[in-house]
Amino acid sequence: MKFFIDTADIDEISEALSWGCLAGVTTNPSLYAKIGGKLADFESHMVKIAQLCEGLPVSAESTATTTEGMIEEGRHLASLAPNIVVKLPICAESLAATHQLASEGIRVNMTLIFSAPQALLAANAGARYISPFVGRFDDIGEDGIEQLATVVSCIENYAWDKNVDHTVEIITASVRTPNHVTQAALLGADIATVPFGALKKCLKHPLTDAGLKSFEADWEKVKAQQ
Ligand code: E4P
Repeated sequence: MKFFIDTADIDEISEALSWGCLAGVTTNPSLYAKIGGKLADFESHMVKIAQLCEGLPVSAESTATTTEGMIEEGRHLASLAPNIVVKLPICAESLAATHQLASEGIRVNMTLIFSAPQALLAANAGARYISPFVGRFDDIGEDGIEQLATVVSCIENYAWDKNVDHTVEIITASVRTPNHVTQAALLGADIATVPFGALKKCLKHPLTDAGLKSFEADWEKVKAQQ
């Protein structure tokens, strides 16, 4: 399973990139607002991220509400950098826009997926990525991982049965914890897009810290013997 980072923060993206294991970036209007982003700077900010990520897919979300608007904005966003993926929230208008954009070779990441039928509709419309949300189910007392499992199985069946003519990758979204990452990988999700805080938690383990401490202490003993 690949790791994307779920942020619009350049410093967080740079640091995660420096780890050498990042495969992409996802952003959304809330993440852009969180960094204090201004409307006038949105495009240049997306280009900055796309350039920083050198060829890795970077999802930039359209805020248009009509099919025509999404197609127009999608074409424009995709023209900003070759690695920009157009992110669209699922609805009738965005399915139609996805169908058109995909026919032009523009990659779409369909977001706000909360059910298997939504995921199947997105795949059939030509979405290159499908983003089922996990954490927001947990937030309302439901089991996000169980929901993800259903989506993964349905998409796998669809790809196998119907011999789809385009690649569809599942991006586990709304990730809150390292356990979400583990469960997504166990289920066979292609990607997890993880906020930087949760990504750092994935890196740490108390036993790793304790082990490192004892290696250091023992190495001091070795050095003292010379
Ligand atoms: C998906 O790409 C979204 O940006 C994201 O994962 C939303 O997560 P949230 O529920 O933490 O806002």
